[in-house]
This record gives sequence, C-alpha cells and structure tokens, in this order.
Amino acid sequence: MKKFYIESYGCQMNFADSEVVASIVSKEGYTSTQSLNDADLILLNTCSIREKAEQTIRKRLKGFNKLKRKNKNLKVGVLGCMAERLKSQFLDEEKIVDLVVGPDAYKDIPNLIKEINDGRNAVNVILSKEETYGDINPIRLSSNGVTAFVSITRGCDNMCTFCVVPFTRGRERSRDPKSILDEIKKLVDKNYKEITLLGQNVDSYLWYGGGLKKDFKKISALRQKTSINFSKLLKLVAESFPLLRIRFSTSNPQDMSSDVIKTMSNYYNICNHIHLPVQSGSNKILKAMNRQHTREEYLELINQIKKVMPDCSISQDIISGFPNETQNDHELTLDLMEKVKYDFGYMFKYSERPGTLASKKFDDNVSELNKKNRLQEIVDLQQKHSYYRTKSFMGKIVEVLIEKESKKSNSQWSGRNQQNTVVVFEKEDYKIGDFVNVLITDCTSATLIGNPINYSKKLKNGIIYSNN
Ligand code: 5AD
Ligand code: SF4
Repeated sequence: MKKFYIESYGCQMNFADSEVVASIVSKEGYTSTQSLNDADLILLNTCSIREKAEQTIRKRLKGFNKLKRKNKNLKVGVLGCMAERLKSQFLDEEKIVDLVVGPDAYKDIPNLIKEINDGRNAVNVILSKEETYGDINPIRLSSNGVTAFVSITRGCDNMCTFCVVPFTRGRERSRDPKSILDEIKKLVDKNYKEITLLGQNVDSYLWYGGGLKKDFKKISALRQKTSINFSKLLKLVAESFPLLRIRFSTSNPQDMSSDVIKTMSNYYNICNHIHLPVQSGSNKILKAMNRQHTREEYLELINQIKKVMPDCSISQDIISGFPNETQNDHELTLDLMEKVKYDFGYMFKYSERPGTLASKKFDDNVSELNKKNRLQEIVDLQQKHSYYRTKSFMGKIVEVLIEKESKKSNSQWSGRNQQNTVVVFEKEDYKIGDFVNVLITDCTSATLIGNPINYSKKLKNGIIYSNN
C-alpha cells in the first residue's frame, strides 16, 4: 500500500484543510505515515502570508532532493496558499515539485494523483464560489483526541491592503450549518471535548442556502430573514452540545455584533476568549490598511465586550512597519495596547506581498531596523501585559481541559482555561480529556501553574474566587 506524508504551515485553517486532504488521499488507497523516508507522496500545505513563510517552504522542499534521489517513485505536492499564489510557476521555480493544488481544488486530487503517477506534472488552482468541503469527513491528523478544528467559512472579502489571503483563498462563503453540526456530532461521539470554529472572519458567517457572502443582498427578503448568522450558529452549536467547549477564530472588529457577545455570555460552554486582530493603533495606518474600523471604534468594542464579560480574554495580531508608519503611529499602537492590555498576541514585521493593494500603492519605506525595533517594543509590551493578565488569575480557580503532558515535566498535565491560557498542574489521577478545577498558585507571562481541587459546583463564567 502506498503511503503519504503531510506537513502543514501557516494558520489553523491550513491544519484543518490538511485533515480534509488526508481524507481524500486515503480514499485513493494511500495510508498516512509520520516518516518522510516511508512516503511515496509528500504533501506540504503551504502559507504565503509573509515572505519568510514562503522561504521556509522553499528550504523544506530543497531538503527533499536527497529523498527523491533515493526513491525514484517519490512524488512531491504543494497545497494551500503558496500553490494558489504561484500556480504553475511553482513547477518552474522548484523542480522537485510534481503537483500544485490550490485551497479550493482538493477534491480534484484523485485525478491529479493519477496524472503524476503517469509521469506528468499536475496543477489545479481554480478558486470556487461554493466549495466548503462540507461533505468530507476529515481525518484527524496527530490529534490529541480532545480538541479539533471545524471550518465554518472559507475565503475572505475584507481586502486588507497588506493581505494575500483574498487572492489565495478567494471570496468568502459559509458552510451549511447542518454539515457543521454533523461534523461536530461525529467528534462528540468520539469523545472530543473542545472544538474551534474556524474562518478567516467567523463573525461574518452567513448561511442562506449557499453562495457567496457578497450575493446575500440579491436574495429575497424572506430568505434573508431565515438566514443563519454567526450568533445564531454559535447558539445552535452551544445548545446542541452543552458539554462541549466551543471556541472560534478569527474575529474582525467590524463584523463582531453585540448579539455574538451576548450569546457568548449566555452560554457557559462558549469560551470567554476573543482573538481580535487590530494590526495598528493609528487611524492613518488603519485607513491605509483598509481596515473597516477606527481606533475609537475598536476600543469601544473592547469596552462593550468587557462590560458584558469582564473576564473575557482578548488577543491581538499587530503589524509593525506598515508603509509610511511614523514613530507617532507606532506610539499610538503602544498606547492602544496599554489601554487594552491584551492577554496575548501575534506580532509581525510588515512583509510586502506581491499583488496586494499595499504593494501597488505604497513604498515599503520603513527601514528594516525601524521595523525590527518597533516590533521588539511591541513584543516587550505584550509580554508585560501578558504577565499582568496571568497574575490576575493568582488565587483563583479555573476550569482546565487536559490536552497533553506538560513539556517541562512528565508528572504534570497541560491544558487551557476558558481564556485560552495554558495551565499546568500535577497529574494525580486525572487523565487527558478531563475537565479539572485548578487553583492557581503561580504563573509566568505565558503559563498558569496550580493545584487541582475537588470543587463540584459548576464554575460561573469560568472563574470563582478561592475564598468564595
Ligand atoms: N505582513 C505582515 N503580517 C501580515 N499579516 C497578514 N499579512 C501580513 C503581511 N503582509 C498578519 C496580520 C494577520 C495575521 C494572520 O498575519 O496580523 O492578522
Ligand atoms: Fe497563510 Fe493566510 Fe493562507 Fe492561512 S490563509 S495559510 S495564514 S496565507
């Protein structure tokens, strides 16, 4: 039997897509292997978000030359965003590649595999208006058996000027709620305890029978009325699976409705964490980025969230050194961070991406040194705030879902609380997949350390005070 090896880079969506691909390839008679040396087909699910991500893939591909010399039948395929961006040019630039498949063309993989096994290169990078892979049952790769990703939308219509995603993943479309619930049901039946609903912009989820989000306004008022938005979907999932923990990512400020915030606070099993990228604290830069919100609107949204859910954690994405960013713009970003005090975040230097509006309109004119120094200041400030946030859990009891053994000690478990902070504690008699109440006694900026306690009362909002 032939074997395939698959490796994923980039966002959670790519990892989720690889599970769809694994399912498709398995039906072609391949079994999955964790060892490159055993593989007849190596697949890399690639990312284009920054130049560095693409360089990593190219380096990885070079490493396969030796394997191909050893095994003349070995085939190498690239999937995902870099495949979509480079298309057949990939075959010219990286001679080792036999197969190039974009994010919407995975169902064509069986045909493409036949092509490459007949000795021809194969490419399919057609983007689709409908494809959501809702009918495919993903194979959970290197899963802990406890947490899983479930895609709910594909593509993105936001057109942030720095971002390559609208070009690599196409227009935004939502998945049929029935197929979402079916997938979750299968996970629950297998004893999974937590799912993350995934999309480039989950709050923009809208099901009205299929089709692009941008065509919603063209349909009848009645159909519009019976459509399902993200808040309704969240409610549906939370009520259908009351014992399942639910997360979602990523949110965009302009689409996050007060209904979603209310729904989060109404259901205990929806985790109190929102990943809410801001990118910059300067209105001038936000405008140039074509973000659909101002600094003030963003801060108002944070206020609203904290008013309804004081213990809700917020995480960010921030870019340093966008074109024309001045020291003053940078300081506005630091100032916004100071106001929000994010729990954690993902921070990047601006990387010009070919084809994006920013690459056409602006010079990449912030020096590498300024980008680097500003990024460092942002990272340092985030670390300070993360520590401020983790310290606030000291002496409190949090509910933790155990996911795996702690990296630092095999006598400890590692899991996360509702707010998505990692918690480690002694294993005692607990096992992976258990929900445990843990009293927090110590912390670093990234990790909470505590002791499991027997506390049978259901925790309110995930947190109670130990002296309650
Ligand atoms: N350069 C740097 N960071 C980027 N991101 C997206 N595009 C770029 C780019 N061209 C970051 C944004 C986004 C996250 C997924 O990656 O912060 O939210
Ligand atoms: Fe990378 Fe964006 Fe593609 Fe995800 S969607 S793989 S982050 S370019």
